[in-house]
Amino acid sequence: MLSMANLSSVVGGLRFEGAVMNTSGVKDTTVEEMKVIADSASCAIVAKTTTSEAKEGNPKPRYYETPERDSTLNSMGLPNPGYEKMAKNIQAVKRYSKKPVFASLRFDLTSVDLNQKMVSALENAGSDIIEVNLSTPNLLGKPQLCYDVDACDRILGVADSVISRAYAVKLSPFLDGTQQDLFSEMLKKHRVAKIVTINSPGNALMIDADTQSIAIKPKWGGYGGKGIKPIALGNIRRFYEFFQGKIPIIGVGGIWTGRDAFEHVLAGASLVEVGTVFAVEGPACFARINAELSQWLDRKGYSSISEAVGQAKTPQEHFKRFSIE
Ligand code: DHB
Repeated sequence: MLSMANLSSVVGGLRFEGAVMNTSGVKDTTVEEMKVIADSASCAIVAKTTTSEAKEGNPKPRYYETPERDSTLNSMGLPNPGYEKMAKNIQAVKRYSKKPVFASLRFDLTSVDLNQKMVSALENAGSDIIEVNLSTPNLLGKPQLCYDVDACDRILGVADSVISRAYAVKLSPFLDGTQQDLFSEMLKKHRVAKIVTINSPGNALMIDADTQSIAIKPKWGGYGGKGIKPIALGNIRRFYEFFQGKIPIIGVGGIWTGRDAFEHVLAGASLVEVGTVFAVEGPACFARINAELSQWLDRKGYSSISEAVGQAKTPQEHFKRFSIE
């Protein structure tokens, strides 16, 4: 059957043709890489997180795929060309494609002026939205910002003043609901227009049984792939309920198929991002997952994606609806 459900939507003032985009960090640094995403069915182009200076990243090997090719471990350490070059790359991509472009930025913790400069360069390059990355798990010796509510409060205070357009936050997975609610209380004070969650769970280790060796040189890294989906759904749902759907959520984590994407939408995501499946399958994954998601929406009687956002019921609600009494 030809799929009819409409996957286009306006989220936070931006129009998206399709529901699936790349997540920051996978093949999204150079103009050539971003053009590949532009030419695919990804509904936006999300750039690699950039910093004030160019960075080489962590020693290699720093990326590993399991033999099953459904999970990865990475400790890239933010290799990026620095914000000035990234702004040029984004400008070139904006000339090439009409799709929304997300710049991703790690704020500098020492200088408000520098943050202002980085933001201006990325906005002048045409970035439609800036993703403030509070969640990189791989800066050796530095804690993940997301788990320090006061530090994030200060950074978002700076973001409120230096970012003129809407901005998003990219968040680490919370493994504790109360901690997530405390973080949400802090978020309320700021102009956050979108929540992107989850980044890869950090402090993970993979061991190759064949060689009996730890998979990557930095040892610990961020875990991506099918297994992280329940953590993503838990985090999405908790934000969805806390903000009562008022801050749009972009769901990331463990999406391989349209069924996975549909679960993210039911939990409360308005759009989804994929990382590991893009790394493993390549850019064809975007059209495939969009088509599969559209079929799920059709099958369950939704004519558009926005109708399905947050519609997951509790078991009690589900049985009440279908009770014959
Ligand atoms: C890296 C990983 C992340 O998850 C992130 O948000 C930013 C950078 C990295 O190791 O390069």
